[in-house]
Amino acid sequence: MKEYHISEKYKRDWQKNILSWYDLNARSLPWRELKSQNFYRIWISEVMLQQTMVKTVIPYYKKFIKKWPSIDYFYKATLEEILLIWQGLGYYQRAKNLYLAKEILRKNELIEINIENLMNLPGIGEYVASAICAILKDENCAVVDGNIKRILSRAFDLNKNEKLYKKKVVNLATQLTPLINNKNYCQSLMDLANKVCLPKNPDCTVCPVGSLCLSSGKVVQQKTNNQEKVKKFGLIFIVKYKDFFLIEKTKDKLLENLYCFPLTDFTEFTNSNTYEIKITDIATKWLTNNGLDNAFTINKSINHTFSHFRLNLFIIELKLKNIRNFKKYEWIRKKDLKNKPIS
Ligand code: ADE
Repeated sequence: MKEYHISEKYKRDWQKNILSWYDLNARSLPWRELKSQNFYRIWISEVMLQQTMVKTVIPYYKKFIKKWPSIDYFYKATLEEILLIWQGLGYYQRAKNLYLAKEILRKNELIEINIENLMNLPGIGEYVASAICAILKDENCAVVDGNIKRILSRAFDLNKNEKLYKKKVVNLATQLTPLINNKNYCQSLMDLANKVCLPKNPDCTVCPVGSLCLSSGKVVQQKTNNQEKVKKFGLIFIVKYKDFFLIEKTKDKLLENLYCFPLTDFTEFTNSNTYEIKITDIATKWLTNNGLDNAFTINKSINHTFSHFRLNLFIIELKLKNIRNFKKYEWIRKKDLKNKPIS
């Protein structure tokens, strides 16, 4: 592996430029409030921030901390309560892992906080463990997530398809991590990635490390293309009887313990001319399988973009005149829906 030996001057300039930039440009974020910062709050924020954008996380983080202001309150949380707060944030395995991890912490009394111990907890990988140790204890550990990889790849002109890419990035990140003030340094990289060194169209003209970056001004500017994602469709059934709705436990293993309205599998749009026929067929089949013969119309749909595909979800509303039981589904009163974690 090509070793990058970074000179002391480069390291000093890199750290100084980034930290000075952070002094002026740090985002004010709820989990950064120093007077309330502690292990618990950093942990919750970092778990939420994995795979989710800051602006989406903020209201969820606030709601979570309002409900469980400290780890002692959180110890009493049930999985269902956690899922209820998590509802809509996605990647529900994270919520389940938080539950499992806090049960371990509760039973063992809080462990000593270090990378090794943290990585033994469900849902805490190298990135979250190092971010917690850096932010909480100012430890000098390299904090490397996808955003920080992007900054370093550009600065040192690495290509993510090259051999030993991950090792090279971690090696560079380790060398560049300051002995003191990694707490601010790692968060400054997160902000730099979010405000300047953007995935598309980075603004190299305002970058504090532009003079140290091999790609400065050279990243090909891209149109904000709606990159062609696979398009899929599915059907969701809103079945009502008086003020009851039909819900089911999600089939997706990753979403265990969450509920949803009856939902079909998602099908890829292959031929846009025939999908209407397909939708009608799928709906009719679902009704027949469930012993229903209601007439239906499909005049509403929701679009949602997931990481790997775009979904067009067609809504079918049915009002039943008589209540009956379904094997796979259960009835819930409208007013109780808010107490069920819905995916
Ligand atoms: N992304 C991941 N961790 C973050 C943090 N602590 N602040 C801002 N963005 C982040």
